[in-house]
Amino acid sequence: MSENIYDVMTARQSVKKYVKDHQISEQELEEILTLAAKAPSSWNLQHWRYLVITSQEMKEKILPIAYNQQQVVESSATVVLLGDLEANKTGKVLYGEALKQGFLTQELHDTLLQQIDWSYSNPEIAKSEAVLNASLSGMQLMLAAKAKGYDTCPMGGFDKEAIVKELNIPDRYIPVMLITIGKQAEPARPTGRLPLDQLVIKETF
Ligand SMILES: Cc1cc2nc3c(=O)[nH]c(=O)nc-3n(C[C@H](O)[C@H](O)[C@H](O)COP(=O)(O)O)c2cc1C
Repeated sequence: MSENIYDVMTARQSVKKYVKDHQISEQELEEILTLAAKAPSSWNLQHWRYLVITSQEMKEKILPIAYNQQQVVESSATVVLLGDLEANKTGKVLYGEALKQGFLTQELHDTLLQQIDWSYSNPEIAKSEAVLNASLSGMQLMLAAKAKGYDTCPMGGFDKEAIVKELNIPDRYIPVMLITIGKQAEPARPTGRLPLDQLVIKETF
């Protein structure tokens, strides 16, 4: 376990075998989620919500929805990372407060809210913003968990409609990914990375 950012980023892998029955404390979860919520977001609208599942009963319910990927039931916690499709509503609260406290002029307040509402009048933008910004928090969650001695696996392999139904997720939120958190029982499968010279384009194509 390390809190050095370079070590954490190097060591993080998608771990799928966890020590069964290891309980993560409320405090550990809170610390990890507090760090996850420090992610940047468009207009600081903080599109992420964390639906946290720790009970075995609920994990068993999620298992078939996650196409029987066992890491769900063996995890200490499975987080359903949600994206806010109506994050413009948060803008009204945040910027209203900033105006009250004198951090914003009325003119800047009005301009920002106009920009935000204009963007959110397009459902495609609202959706891509929800997924994009929530994902940044998901990455931060995984690194925070690693720094605190836990491993994670991000999962896109689950039935989105079924999870909405099972967990009564309101229309306002879209499930972005599942993230399992647990104590590693078996190392992750090694994965390679494309060489940098295939990834980096200098100046222009
Ligand atoms: C958006 C996303 C969806 C993923 N979905 C799954 C999944 O459903 N099941 C799974 O076992 N791993 C899943 N993974 C993990 C990837 O397979 C893994 O990140 C990749 O192979 C690189 O390995 P590493 O994370 O260990 O470096 C997902 C990763 C991401 C980013």
